[in-house]
Amino acid sequence: MNSFRFIVTYHVSRITFYASRFAFSGFFVEDRLPSKKRYGVGLLGAGTVGGGLIRLLHEKLSHHQLPVEIKKVGVRNLSKTRSFNLPGALLSDNLEGIVEDKTIDILVEAMGGLEPARTYIEKALLAGKHVVTANKQVVSEYGDYLSQLAQSKGKQFLYEASVAGSIPIIEILREGVIPDRIQAIYGILNSTTNFILTRMTESGEDFHEALVKAQELGFSEPNPSFDISGKDAGQKLAILISILKHQPCHPAQLDARGIDGLAPFDFQFARDRQWRIKPLAIYEEASGKGFASVEPVLVPASSIFANVRNEYNALCFSCQNIGRQIFIGKGAGELPTASALLSDLSKITSSDGHEQLSYEPSGAAREGIQFCSSIENPRGYGFYIKCSLSSNAVKRRRIREVVGQVGEVFEESTTGQGTNAWFCAVTQKILHSELYRILNEILSFDADARLSWLRVLQETD
Ligand SMILES: NC(=O)c1ccc[n+]([C@@H]2O[C@H](COP(=O)([O-])OP(=O)(O)OC[C@H]3O[C@@H](n4cnc5c(N)ncnc54)[C@H](OP(=O)(O)O)[C@@H]3O)[C@@H](O)[C@H]2O)c1
Repeated sequence: MNSFRFIVTYHVSRITFYASRFAFSGFFVEDRLPSKKRYGVGLLGAGTVGGGLIRLLHEKLSHHQLPVEIKKVGVRNLSKTRSFNLPGALLSDNLEGIVEDKTIDILVEAMGGLEPARTYIEKALLAGKHVVTANKQVVSEYGDYLSQLAQSKGKQFLYEASVAGSIPIIEILREGVIPDRIQAIYGILNSTTNFILTRMTESGEDFHEALVKAQELGFSEPNPSFDISGKDAGQKLAILISILKHQPCHPAQLDARGIDGLAPFDFQFARDRQWRIKPLAIYEEASGKGFASVEPVLVPASSIFANVRNEYNALCFSCQNIGRQIFIGKGAGELPTASALLSDLSKITSSDGHEQLSYEPSGAAREGIQFCSSIENPRGYGFYIKCSLSSNAVKRRRIREVVGQVGEVFEESTTGQGTNAWFCAVTQKILHSELYRILNEILSFDADARLSWLRVLQETD
């Protein structure tokens, strides 16, 4: 743990360095620009993130710090009450008009969803505008194409806000700030699920109670299915892998498992063994293949991830020579996300739009990694297996025998009778393929068995 503490302290100071570098460029950028050019900004979306950007530019910072001027803000509902002060004339529901507006140099897309956001971004780039976006869905699916389009137009397509909110992780990866080969990524990339699992661990709430709390506090969207299913974190992980490996990784190439099947019993089981259940995004390599997944995972209570709570995000890079590098910060919300948009705006204005930052950095060799499903992973892990307990004594005995071959059967649970009775086991290190074989064998003689499993990730894994 001591080495962990050192790394965290070290990176807190690195992030402070980033923040101060950003503030520095913000304060002095106008003096460095010979023409004192002001960039016209068109903002699509003024909800949580877009509204946050307006507040940062107009209220939290002096707007003289960045040579930008908001020309238009596109929304759906003009009569909605807003949390920021902006002359009403700047608001428009004609988003097409904003994209075509010749006084706008930079389009900031903060409306969300795949369409029409993707089309507006494409049109803005074709019209010779820089684009800054918070939209992980568009970036994870079209980032490669849009970056190449931006490059062909000599413009920038930046998306720091699409992953991990306040942690400047895109810049860290792209700039090669970590001077070593990154072999694996472990991350908490979704604030909603981390908040829900924190509540289920600490307050003993069930999944639905914790979800309602997340929605009350504004951490979760009205439709939380993307968060709960792991798709949101999968899109973010795909973006990070694409930058890391210099080759596009599509979210469909990841294994994604949601958190909605977890029950209070699982958390009690974890607590009793000094474990915690955390929503991890994982990228590992073995035998020249890449294995990426988003899934709830058991980690030791003493690990760094166990102590990343609520809406915080964390990223741990496992490096070949220098060990682990860990970054922690708020992963969502109005100002953390808007600060990442602001950082991208600063990059464009401070480089006078010349610096070319692409999704896949030009000149970097593609590593040609093949992204594979976990069933092909040649590394073994411990697994927690939970199985509904049949009332049939023969079936119960067979389940114990099958699981007992690869691990320790911890208990026949006393959490209830009939459908609520569970039996649990923790396996030795086995392959995913072996895990699936065992689960299939159980189903072959007990088709009604309800099975679930979690990977156990030790700090040494
Ligand atoms: N919220 C976060 O913490 C967070 C964190 C990281 C990334 N992001 C990303 O940031 C983006 C924005 O998220 P958000 O939370 O700010 O969303 P939000 O609060 O729902 O705001 C969306 C904004 O876009 C406008 N809008 C949406 N569709 C539109 C359409 N078809 N035409 C015109 N206006 C439209 C809405 O207009 P009205 O206001 O009139 O309804 C609203 O102002 C998403 O891509 C999200 O994934 C969000």
